[in-house]
Amino acid sequence: MGSREASPATIFCFLLLFFLGCKCLASELKATQTAELKVDASPQLARHIPDTLFGIFFEEINHAGAGGIWAELVSNRGFEAGGPHTPSNVDPWSIIGDDSSIFVATDRTSCFSRNTVALRMEVLCDNCPAGGVGIYNPGFWGMNIEDGKTYNLVMYVKSPETVELTVSLTSSDGSQNLASATILVSGASNWTKLEQKLVAEGTNRTSRLQITTNKKGVVWFDQVSLMPSDTYKGHGFRTELISMMLDLKPRFLRFPGGCFVEGEWLRNAFRWRESIGPWEERPGHFGDVWHYWTDDGLGYYEFLQLSEDLGAAPIWVFNNGISHNDEVDTAAIAPFVKDVLDSLEFARGSAESTWGSVRAAMGHPEPFPVKYVAIGNEDCGKKFYRGNYLKFYNAIREAYPDIQMISNCDASSGPLDHPADLYDFHVYTDSKTLFWMKNTFDGSSRNGPKAFVSEYAVWRSDAGRGSLLASLAEAAFLTGLEKNSDIVWMASYAPLFVNNNDQTWNPDAIVFNSWQQYGTPSYWMQTLFRESSGALIHPITIISSYSGSLAASAITWQDSENSFLRVKIVNFGSDAVSLTISATGLQARVNTAGSTVTVLTSGNVMDENSFSNPNKVVPVKSQLPNAAEQMQVMLSPHSFTSLDLALAQSELVAEM
Ligand code: AHR
Repeated sequence: MGSREASPATIFCFLLLFFLGCKCLASELKATQTAELKVDASPQLARHIPDTLFGIFFEEINHAGAGGIWAELVSNRGFEAGGPHTPSNVDPWSIIGDDSSIFVATDRTSCFSRNTVALRMEVLCDNCPAGGVGIYNPGFWGMNIEDGKTYNLVMYVKSPETVELTVSLTSSDGSQNLASATILVSGASNWTKLEQKLVAEGTNRTSRLQITTNKKGVVWFDQVSLMPSDTYKGHGFRTELISMMLDLKPRFLRFPGGCFVEGEWLRNAFRWRESIGPWEERPGHFGDVWHYWTDDGLGYYEFLQLSEDLGAAPIWVFNNGISHNDEVDTAAIAPFVKDVLDSLEFARGSAESTWGSVRAAMGHPEPFPVKYVAIGNEDCGKKFYRGNYLKFYNAIREAYPDIQMISNCDASSGPLDHPADLYDFHVYTDSKTLFWMKNTFDGSSRNGPKAFVSEYAVWRSDAGRGSLLASLAEAAFLTGLEKNSDIVWMASYAPLFVNNNDQTWNPDAIVFNSWQQYGTPSYWMQTLFRESSGALIHPITIISSYSGSLAASAITWQDSENSFLRVKIVNFGSDAVSLTISATGLQARVNTAGSTVTVLTSGNVMDENSFSNPNKVVPVKSQLPNAAEQMQVMLSPHSFTSLDLALAQSELVAEM
């Protein structure tokens, strides 16, 4: 066999690969940077981080509430979404049958005075099709009906003649029947409340609720609700989404917005008073900033209940008479002030007080501990902000001296011209800017109001739909907030939730549809800060020529059994770093047993999670084999590393 000679093309390819290979090798070698991180854990230099530092901001945006954490499966349950003028659009309700068999229209005959629209269904057929004719509701992009689970149907019906109604849960085209029941409605001239449990015999993620009949005649419907029986604590919240909130151990819950609180126009802003009391009587409203209707089953009371269920301090953001496009003159703001005082009495008043008694009647005689309120959202520059602000501030201070009030005006770089306990700080920017903003509060005055960073996130091209890159910059920013937590008292990512079918705002921390959910890297990043609230923070020093790409912090925190020195380091750069960590001043030895390292990283800095790959970028935790007061760790490029060094318990006890 003769040997084959390499062609010039083959030689060229070989040389190219060789040089590329050398270059890669060289850059890999060059890429490894070194750094030293020194922690001074001596008690005299440690400082308490406020218990409230990390919490969550829930806004009714992206169908986060309606079609989200609020488990109601029927969309537009009161037929009010089309407005008060009839006939009106009943979307997403639709008809089973055709023009010859059924005529459906809204009218204003409801038994509820604040939401008067009802649905009149006239069955025209003598010999109706076998399955009957009627109406169906697909919920919010399909209902998640699961095998063996119970669903509670409540609806108000009026029928002059006795009629048999079939209520069923079916697939989106009606072909698969998952649950069904027949209800006999006695003929009467008044409305009747009907309740029916439906137990699913099959799973379908995009189901619908059907109400059908074979009998000619007229039936009215109103306030049709379908709730799964297994909501969180029976309080109406979708359990899996609540558990993702609980995993953040939020210390506060800021609600219900954001711009949702303001409205494009005041007439469409969130009104707490319209969102309390029996659900059937709530009028619902169209949120004109995020462009969707809410039945307001998730109302002011439910937000307070949610805070309690999460163990988070409620932060009520109220409308201060200002929307995006119109404002109430300070001269006419008094009724708005009175309205807010009533909302506080509703939350905090005794069960005998006017508004406290309404709360008690809803099932919560104990007051809700509202200690913080925000006077508006992003309204600082508006014409009547200061005037209105002072009216609210003075009235609340007088009635509730312990309530901490949050101004919309930024005091991070200069004093405010009005009194405030805290000021709101919002930032949405690119990753490099946010990384460097870790130093934002270093130069802020230590004497003025405290900062509430109530909305922060990397957005636009750096964020994709929730990238690793975004989460790294955010982590760096949060290390800066920890260090400045003598004046930064609270921080929350925004927005928290997005229903994948209505992404008005991108990115968001938790993505869901009717039955699935996952956290973006920004969500997972936050889980590595959940132990910081109430912990001790220690000074650190980073020595490295690469320090411009690094951010870090060190805290001591405790779980129910152990104490840990936690060192968190963001490597924002594309080089690997060999990091030497040393801790001095510790009051106890570092124990290898129980020490762990958790890393959030991925092969590509723009990697994201998705429904098909929800765990692509998640923290990976492992034992730390050689934990010690001085140790070396390797930081991957583009990574967030959290080391928990277990401190010898017996020595800590001996110290005390
Ligand atoms: O988080 C989304 C929006 O961003 C909020 O509604 C608003 O406060 C901010 O502009």
